[in-house]
Formats: sequence, structure tokens, C-alpha cells
Amino acid sequence: MEKKTLKIGLFGLGTVGSGIVELLMKKGKRIGDNRFVLRKIVENDLSRKKGASISWKLVRSDPDWILNDPEIDTVIEVIGGIHPAQEIIMQSLKMGKNVVTANKALLARAGSEIFQKSVENGCYLGIRASHIASYRLIDSLVSSPSQISTLQGVLNGTCNYLLTEMERKEEFFSVILKRAQAIGYAESDPSDDIDGYDTAHKLIVLLGLVSGTFLPLKSLYVEGIRRITLQDVKFARELGYRIKHLAIARMAGRVVEARVHPVLLPQGRGLARLEGVENGVELRDEMGLDISMQAPGAGKYPAATAILEDLICIAEDRKLLFLSEKEPLTLKKMEDIETKYYLRLNAFDQAGVLSKISGILGSHNISIQAVLQKGERKEGGYVPIILLTHKAREGNVQVALSEIGMLSAVQESPLLIRVEKETF
Ligand SMILES: NC(=O)c1ccc[n+]([C@@H]2O[C@H](COP(=O)([O-])OP(=O)(O)OC[C@H]3O[C@@H](n4cnc5c(N)ncnc54)[C@H](OP(=O)(O)O)[C@@H]3O)[C@@H](O)[C@H]2O)c1
Repeated sequence: MEKKTLKIGLFGLGTVGSGIVELLMKKGKRIGDNRFVLRKIVENDLSRKKGASISWKLVRSDPDWILNDPEIDTVIEVIGGIHPAQEIIMQSLKMGKNVVTANKALLARAGSEIFQKSVENGCYLGIRASHIASYRLIDSLVSSPSQISTLQGVLNGTCNYLLTEMERKEEFFSVILKRAQAIGYAESDPSDDIDGYDTAHKLIVLLGLVSGTFLPLKSLYVEGIRRITLQDVKFARELGYRIKHLAIARMAGRVVEARVHPVLLPQGRGLARLEGVENGVELRDEMGLDISMQAPGAGKYPAATAILEDLICIAEDRKLLFLSEKEPLTLKKMEDIETKYYLRLNAFDQAGVLSKISGILGSHNISIQAVLQKGERKEGGYVPIILLTHKAREGNVQVALSEIGMLSAVQESPLLIRVEKETF
């Protein structure tokens, strides 16, 4: 095979960018028969290069320094965010440069456009670092002749850390969140992670790769973990479950059910076993073949390694992940999904309240599988009631819950967590 030299321009010298520089330095520019030459770095904050053993001459803040350099054939974008990352990627592709990016938020928003531009210009687009927990699985499956029918995963380390620490230490959400921020497992503004958007971006990218279509973020049902309490974690355990924050996509032909929210999973198998910041992904194809993978979902070196794999693919002229044009996906409405439900409500402790609640559920075709009434009973006080339902239609459950929430004996709106079947 012909030896190749990639001349690389790197945008961003933050966590991932500095990891790439370190890996390239460690590997001594040559990997296999190919050479990887880091020609230029563009970084906003020049103080970032302190500590990285690179020459000052290599770093500037002007993007055109890389974009207008005809010698640079490969651009790595690890600045994150939407703008100017999108313009940098589109411009690079337009100029015939290969692009490698870790930017799942941008791909979730503009993935189709970016892929199309790369195809039009005959450039490689490497996106492994945007789904580092699963790229090795997806790599082998994108080229497989059989369709993926189910894709589900714990895709956000912060959420999994918060949920498992609540369970392990029996501490409140706010206490664990502060600790996670102190040790770098949660950002100072953790909203993207704990409100589910980071997971949703990853699901859109994964589903895009297996289906050929990037769904718009606003079409997806996305719910985070802010309303999950220590009480829920304990009740779930008592009922034989663990609470996980899950991305779920199920495909039947071109009809897809795609959602992101907390779930109860039966203890002891598959994704339910993940601890701390671990991520996991499971895929089932239409022939019923299951594969799963557990891997770090974030981090300087895992992300930099995924980028390096893309660079090696480019140098070896290996086909990267390509979206093939397919007919659009039809998204199943959330109200039409069917599953079991965990419902927690705070109800006034008096005779007849439970029968009113079960009456409302029954009138919407929702039958109860188990009831748990816990907590200290106080004369005239509120107690938590946990209801586990049999399979029911989401639309019916939502209507029933709004009726239950209006009962004078029920304090605050009830919490609903969907109960999923055992994972693979
Ligand atoms: N960290 C991970 O574990 C991980 C894993 C997988 C994927 N990713 C993805 O990788 C990307 C980068 O993440 P990161 O954690 O490395 O972020 P980061 O530590 O914040 O690094 C980004 C760097 O880019 C610089 N920058 C921002 N805008 C710029 C611009 N217009 N021109 C030049 N430099 C600019 C930033 O400087 P300022 O701080 O001055 O703005 C910062 O130094 C994101 O898309 C992220 O989602 C990260």
C-alpha cells in the first residue's frame, strides 16, 4: 500500500485537542507506514498551549491560517459548539480537506448537511469521537447487510454517576451533584448532561449512522434526571430494579421509536449493571443478533484515540462511516408507545384516596401490578404511594396522571418513570 503523509490542522487545544497532540507526539508522527504531521493549531486561548510541548510557532487564533493553507489536507475540529465549528467544517470540506470531528451537538443539528458536503467533495468525514462509547460496534454494523432493529444505551457518564452514587451512598441528588462537579464528573453548568440533551445528541448521531437519517432534536422525546429522588432510587431497588438514564431507538422498517428518559431496568443484567461514569450500548439486528459494548463515554484519551483511528482510516484510504440515502424515517408518536410505568405520588393519608386513584387509572385502561405505600404515617399528613402498572399506552397514562394531579388529596404532580424490559 502507498505510504501517505497527512498534513493536519487542529482546531481547539482543550481537553480533547491536547490529548490528540500528546498521542501524536507519543507515536512519533509515524503510525504503521503512514506519517501524521501536525502543521498548525488554531486556539482561542493561547495560554492553553502552556504545558503542551509544542512550538509557539504552531499556534495562532486565526481560523484562516489553517483553512487557507493548501498544504493542509486534514482538519480536526475539537472546539465544540455550533458556531463557528459548523462554518469551519463546511469550509474545510468545500476546500477539499478531510474532516475529523468530535462534535456530537453539531452533528445532531447539521449532520445531514455535513455528510452531504463531504460526499459532494469526495472528502472523508471522521466522526468516531462523537460516539466514543460505541464506535467500534457501529463501525462493524454500518457495513453489515442486516438492519438494526433496536439500539439502546446509557450514553452519559454524568447521569449514570449521579444515579449510581445516590444508590450506593444513599445521599441526595444535590449533594452528589456538587461532589461530581468538584471531581470533574459534571460541568459547572450540568444542564446538557442531566437534562438529557447530551444523550439525545448521541442518539441522533447513532441513529443517523444506522438509519441514514439524522432526526431533528426537537422531534425527540427528551427527559433528564432532575426529578429522580433518593426515595425513587430506594423504591426501585426494593421492587427489583435500578434507575438508569437511557437512550432508546426501535426501528420497524422506516418507522422508529426514539426517546431519551430515565427508566427502571430489572437489576442484574445488561445496562442495569453499569456503575459510575461507565457507558454502555446494545444493538440488536433484524435477525435477532445482539451485541453490546461497555466503554468510557468521555475523556481526553478515549476521545483522542477515536480521532486517531479516523486519521489512520484516512491515511489507509479505508472507507469511513458514510450515510447512504434512504427514505425518511417516520417517528412514532410518544403517546403511542406502550410500556409499564412506575408512578410516585404524594397523597393525603386518608381512607378512599387510593381507590380514587386506581379508579382514574382503571378508567383509562391502566391496571395496577403492585402498590407500595411507605414512609411514616402522620395523622393528616402526606405519604408517598408507588404504583407499578401493567403495560399501558403512554397517552392514556399522561391523561390519567393529569387527572390524578388535580385531586385535592394529591400533592404536586405525580412522577412517572417508564419500566423497560431486561436489556440484552
Ligand atoms: N471532553 C471529552 O471527554 C469529549 C469526549 C468526546 C467528545 N467531545 C467533544 O469534543 C469537543 C471538544 O471538547 P473538549 O472537552 O476538548 O472542550 P474544551 O476543553 O472546552 O476545548 C475546546 C477548546 O477550543 C477552544 N475554542 C473554542 N472556540 C474556538 C474558536 N472559535 N477558535 C479557536 N479555538 C476555540 C476553547 O477555547 P476557550 O475555552 O477560550 O473558548 C478550548 O480551548 C466537543 O465537541 C465535545 O463535545 C469531548
